[in-house]
Amino acid sequence: MRSYSLLAAAKINLYLEILGDRPDGYHQLAMVMQSVDLADQIDLRPLSSDRIVVHCDRPDVPVDSTNLAYRAAVLIQQQFPEAAAQYGGVEITIHKRIPMGAGLAGGSTDAAAVLSGLNLMWQLGLTQGELQTLGESLGSDVPFCIMGGTALVTGRGEQLSPLPDLDSLYVVLGKYRSISVSTAWAYSTYRQQYSDRYIRDPQGLQTAHYQVHSGPMVSAIAHKDSLKIGQELHNDFEKIVFPQYPELVALRDAMQAAGVLGALMSGSGSTVFGLTESRAQAEIVQQTVRQALPNPDLDLWIAQFSPTGIRLGTLAG
Ligand code: C5P
Repeated sequence: MRSYSLLAAAKINLYLEILGDRPDGYHQLAMVMQSVDLADQIDLRPLSSDRIVVHCDRPDVPVDSTNLAYRAAVLIQQQFPEAAAQYGGVEITIHKRIPMGAGLAGGSTDAAAVLSGLNLMWQLGLTQGELQTLGESLGSDVPFCIMGGTALVTGRGEQLSPLPDLDSLYVVLGKYRSISVSTAWAYSTYRQQYSDRYIRDPQGLQTAHYQVHSGPMVSAIAHKDSLKIGQELHNDFEKIVFPQYPELVALRDAMQAAGVLGALMSGSGSTVFGLTESRAQAEIVQQTVRQALPNPDLDLWIAQFSPTGIRLGTLAG
């Protein structure tokens, strides 16, 4: 049985609206998600025993059962006991490039890569849709990470409608190493402060509202109108995260002053990104922001929009 190496893309949110409470305790969302080519590399090697072993080149990443990549392998073993009995276990090596607590779905995309990779390694023959359904139980962002590209994402995060690719756009991603936001904290704080505005009508929660609000962004993407995409960027989580972290407001303002199409926090933070039309423009923005905010705690990356979430890479060693 051969080994596999996969590249697992980070995502950003071009649009994130929290609509209301769902009966399952999650929030109903309207989002536009976009894969970017900042990616973790996930190597999968067969093990003859039935063990699952995770290694990571970042010592602060847990390699036990709290790691979503580990849980993805357990899920496959449990769902496909005959294949597990035939093929044994797996050694998972994570080369971590996507920062954690960043709103970039770093853990979810690693899990998506393990599901996609074991599907190949154990020849399970699952379709992308079947992998997405499996991924839902691991986390709300996992289905999108499996699909990748550009998508309108609704429900809890599991209803995906592909949108046209935007692979000519770039982002400058900015993350303070010392600022990480817990997604669970972000949702519970949002609920405390804004649940009086939640939509109560189940029908409205399902359809009408998000079509009205996310519509202009979806239309801007359909027309590949990058100026309009920049203007329509929106994330409800900024309302609760920005007051806690004024540094992030300053980062957004520095991106805007540097001439981006638009700047926004991704997911529940703490990454703030600025959109540009070319790599050359992204490099100017990166340098300008670095000069405006000369803080060694601030990491800045350039990434290109990517049409794929998970793709095969080259196995090292
Ligand atoms: O699904 P996931 O494990 O990523 O969710 C992390 C946290 O975010 C959970 O506490 C969950 O309640 C919350 N969440 C939510 N609504 C969503 C997605 C996540 O309330 N649509």
